[in-house]
Amino acid sequence: MSGVVRVIAPAKINWTLEVLRKRADGYHELRSVLQTIDLHDVVTLRDAREISVEINGPEAGALPDAPPESNLAYRGALALSRRAGGGRGVRISIEKRVPVAAGLGGGSSDAAAVLRGLNRMWELGEPRENLGELAGEVGSDPPFFVFGGAALISGRGEQVEPLPDAAAPPILLATPPQNERGEKTAAMFAALGPEAYTAGDVTLGVRETISAGRQLVDAELQNVFETVTASMQPQTEIAMDALRAQGHVPHLCGAGPSFFLLLSARDDARVMSDRIRVLGFEPRPVRATTRRSATTIRAV
Ligand code: C5P
Repeated sequence: MSGVVRVIAPAKINWTLEVLRKRADGYHELRSVLQTIDLHDVVTLRDAREISVEINGPEAGALPDAPPESNLAYRGALALSRRAGGGRGVRISIEKRVPVAAGLGGGSSDAAAVLRGLNRMWELGEPRENLGELAGEVGSDPPFFVFGGAALISGRGEQVEPLPDAAAPPILLATPPQNERGEKTAAMFAALGPEAYTAGDVTLGVRETISAGRQLVDAELQNVFETVTASMQPQTEIAMDALRAQGHVPHLCGAGPSFFLLLSARDDARVMSDRIRVLGFEPRPVRATTRRSATTIRAV
C-alpha cells in the first residue's frame, strides 16, 4: 500500500435511540439503529515518524482548543500502533465537513476512519471485529463507524450488529449554528430519568423493517433524547415544535442538537429547507449510504 491513504469518514443519524437502563459502571445500556449518511469528513493518512493530527475544512473553526491526545482520531492511531507492537507514526489530516458536536458522530467517525485506513496502510490485516474492539477503547460511538451502513448497536455502543443496507427515503438534515453547540453528551444522558427508559422493542422493529427491505417511515422512529430537548436544548425544541405545527415529523440526531426530516414524494424539499432556515437552522439534503460506500479506502 502506498504511503498516502484517503478515507471517507461519514456522519450518522439514528433511526432509533433507546436507553434500557443505567448500568453499574455509569454508562447507559443502549439499543439504537444507526445509519451512515453522505455528509462526511475526509481523512488523509501519510507516513510519519510520530502520530500527529491537523484539522482544516469548512467546519474546523467550530472545534474547541484541546490537547492532541484528547482527539479521537489521535487515540485511534495510538490504539492501533500499540496493537501492532508500538512505535508507529502517521500524519493525520482531517478535512472537517461534518458539523462538530452536533449529534452526527463526526469525531467518532474520524477515529474509525483512522483505524480502517491505518490497518490498510500498515498492512496489519486486522479483521473488522478487532478494529471494532479497538474503536470501543476510544469511545462508545466509534465501533459503529468501523462497520458503517445501517447497524444495530447495544451495550454502551460497542456491540455492533451490521444490518443490510436500508431502504430509506431522502433525508433533510437540520444543524444549528456553530455557537449553539457544545459538548453535551454526558449532560444529556444525565438528564434522562427512569421514566424515559424503554424495552428496546422500537429498535427491534426497525431492525425487522430494514432486514425485510421495507422502506422506513416516520411512525417507527424514536429517540429517547427528545424527552429532554425542551429542558436541555430549547432552541432545538422550538424549531422541532414549529415544524410539527406545520405537519412535519422531525427526529433528533443522537443526543442532538441536530435533527432530520424524512422526505416523501409529495414533500417540496425547497419549501421545507426554507422553513428550517427561518428557524435558524441550516438545511442539508442528504442520503443514507450503503456499508460499501461508508467504508471506502483509497490509496492516493
Ligand atoms: O463513551 P463516550 O466517551 O463517547 O461517552 C461520553 C459520555 O456519555 C460518557 O462519559 C457517559 O457519561 C455518557 N454515555 C452514557 N452511556 C453510553 C454512552 C455514553 O452514559 N452508552
